[in-house]
Amino acid sequence: MTVTEHSWPDHPAAPSDLVVAPHDWPALTPTELARARRAGQSKRWHAVGPDHLALGVADMDLPSPPMALQAIEDRLRHPILGYHRLLPTLPEQVSQWYVRHTGWKPDPDAMAVLPFGLKTAIRLLLETLADRNHPVVVLTPCYDGLRRVGRDATCGLVEVPLTRGPDLAYGLDIELLRARILATGARTLLLCNPHNPLGRVWSIDELRSLAGLAEELDLLVVSDEVHSPLTHPGRRHHPWPLVARHDRWAVASSLGKAFNVSGIAGSWLICGRPAERAPLLRALKSWGHHQGSLLGDQVMDACLRHGDDWLAERTALVQRLVQHARRVLARDAPSIGCAAPEAGYLLWLDLRRVVPASAPDDLSAYLEERCGLRLVAGARFGGDHAGFARMNVGTSWPVLDEALRRLGRLA
Ligand SMILES: Cc1ncc(COP(=O)(O)O)c(C=O)c1O
Repeated sequence: MTVTEHSWPDHPAAPSDLVVAPHDWPALTPTELARARRAGQSKRWHAVGPDHLALGVADMDLPSPPMALQAIEDRLRHPILGYHRLLPTLPEQVSQWYVRHTGWKPDPDAMAVLPFGLKTAIRLLLETLADRNHPVVVLTPCYDGLRRVGRDATCGLVEVPLTRGPDLAYGLDIELLRARILATGARTLLLCNPHNPLGRVWSIDELRSLAGLAEELDLLVVSDEVHSPLTHPGRRHHPWPLVARHDRWAVASSLGKAFNVSGIAGSWLICGRPAERAPLLRALKSWGHHQGSLLGDQVMDACLRHGDDWLAERTALVQRLVQHARRVLARDAPSIGCAAPEAGYLLWLDLRRVVPASAPDDLSAYLEERCGLRLVAGARFGGDHAGFARMNVGTSWPVLDEALRRLGRLA
């Protein structure tokens, strides 16, 4: 491994400023990792002070796949970076990818491949297809970005809590959901499948009960499935359309989380009613997005074509990191509760027994000051989640161990 010594400039680093071989990243120490990530202008690592560990924002401290990097290099051999048409083969590539990974074959003609990330995609969808005079429902705790998009794109947000059992096992209360929807007049359900921050992969029975409710109340279901490619080995993700009982749905996803390419623009929406793609494309044009994402399309194409084996390896590594974190916490800090994610690299922690009830509203600032850890405070996920936090374990083993040691000191 070569990590060149220098202090980090605010301007973009030249690639030659810092070279870490791909296989060295999982072994980087906290100091090496913080420096390497800052050299790449990581939003997450630039937000914390020296010696602090940034385990909030959901991207990985592990390299993006070689085929993605190669695709960018290849494209940059062409000297013109002008307006870019969407790669016409992408919808079919996305569709084939679902066939291989889930058994569902989406209709490429019902799909809009987009030159921006998922929050914008969902905003576009809500503004175009949802009944904006009625609120949107989310299940809390719920990823803050979704809550914000739901709230800002419609006339409000209805938060329905998931049930919380022993060992932070969360579940659905369908009767409560029905009652809240009927009481508020909500017409759209924003579902996170798998769930952020819990990492729950909803079971087929849970999804069927939601699908029954959606049909009964004629809800538009927007299923955000961005974490699904990182479903842990031994678990099974069910795309919404496989359980849907009516055609008022849209699936929103991207390769951002799974392939760690969120800095590259690209996502897709798939509509239950193919005819609804046309108004999406019209709105897209009026937003000024009348072209594909030049580098994003190349990256998507390469990962969709050649990324299956890499993804299987990365998913297994992510599962090992999660299992390790849970084992160490159970052994060294049993008063910290920890959910059991079935997908992704986010760990939902119950810190209520180790932070004083008088801890400041902003638990994130408290944790940073007490133990130099930047996590996302539970309050950001809606509902009654003061005292909870989300930790990103998609990092190097030494950084994870140091973070667990620091959490252990709270216990
Ligand atoms: C469930 C979920 N949806 C959407 C996003 C945001 O995706 P993007 O950065 O592409 O807008 C995230 C990011 O953490 C997420 O976890």
